[in-house]
Amino acid sequence: MEIRVAKCAGFCFGVKRAINIAENALKGLKAGENIYSFGPIIHNPQVVEGLLKKGLRVAGGLKEIKSGTVIISSHGAPLEVLKEIKKKKIKLIDATCPFVKYAQHIVEGLKKDGYRIIIVGDDTHPEVKALKSIAGKDRISKKIGVISQTTQNKENYINEIKKILGEDFSEIKVFNTICNDTSKRQSAARSLLKDCDLMIVIGGKNSANTKRLWQICKESGVDSFHIETEPEVNKKWFKGKHCVGITSGASTPDSMVKKIIEKIRRFQRS
Ligand code: F3S
Repeated sequence: MEIRVAKCAGFCFGVKRAINIAENALKGLKAGENIYSFGPIIHNPQVVEGLLKKGLRVAGGLKEIKSGTVIISSHGAPLEVLKEIKKKKIKLIDATCPFVKYAQHIVEGLKKDGYRIIIVGDDTHPEVKALKSIAGKDRISKKIGVISQTTQNKENYINEIKKILGEDFSEIKVFNTICNDTSKRQSAARSLLKDCDLMIVIGGKNSANTKRLWQICKESGVDSFHIETEPEVNKKWFKGKHCVGITSGASTPDSMVKKIIEKIRRFQRS
């Protein structure tokens, strides 16, 4: 059985940047001081675990933070959270990915110009929550502005745009805010799907971009599994298979991909 790894793997730019920001902040951690991230800094539990060992604390809400420093995750945070941090005079370090910031600026502009803003994405995801906080209350306007979560599947986005085109509007502005890394990862996975009869998607179960990769793989009809760590790999998956494709989310470390490939090779040898 052949093992093929997607061309686009490893941390994306925004994830690498957020981890570096957190690690640099933790280097200067003094006794008695607390450095928090507002929610997980990236959506990979194993990487977050490593940062916790270096002294980071993950706050589920602002009530948990009385003083110290708070790092905003790569996904950004809602306006009300940022205002509250300022009010509480807590030191803020912003690790929001610049591509997410770009989407936020577009929403700000659309709001200022009186557009009804439609965000195509997962309502419960922190990135979308932050975008919604900037967009404010839904407004009635015949001018429509459409943007997408940075990790959206392009086909989903196109389908949603087609539906919106059926609405009553005088003007419509559509922005492609799917980040470059997401597009490349999705294309690399599609390319593997042409030859592989099994796909393994590696990444956090809470990672939006990993879930989209898995969705693309499943919808192709190829047997596909989404896993975080090597103990989840099951020998039965490989029975009768000729080619396994490996792809990973933007917050999955290369070391995890290597461990999983090693586990598959061990199964092949046994
Ligand atoms: Fe940024 Fe795209 Fe990564 S939005 S965090 S570069 S997946």
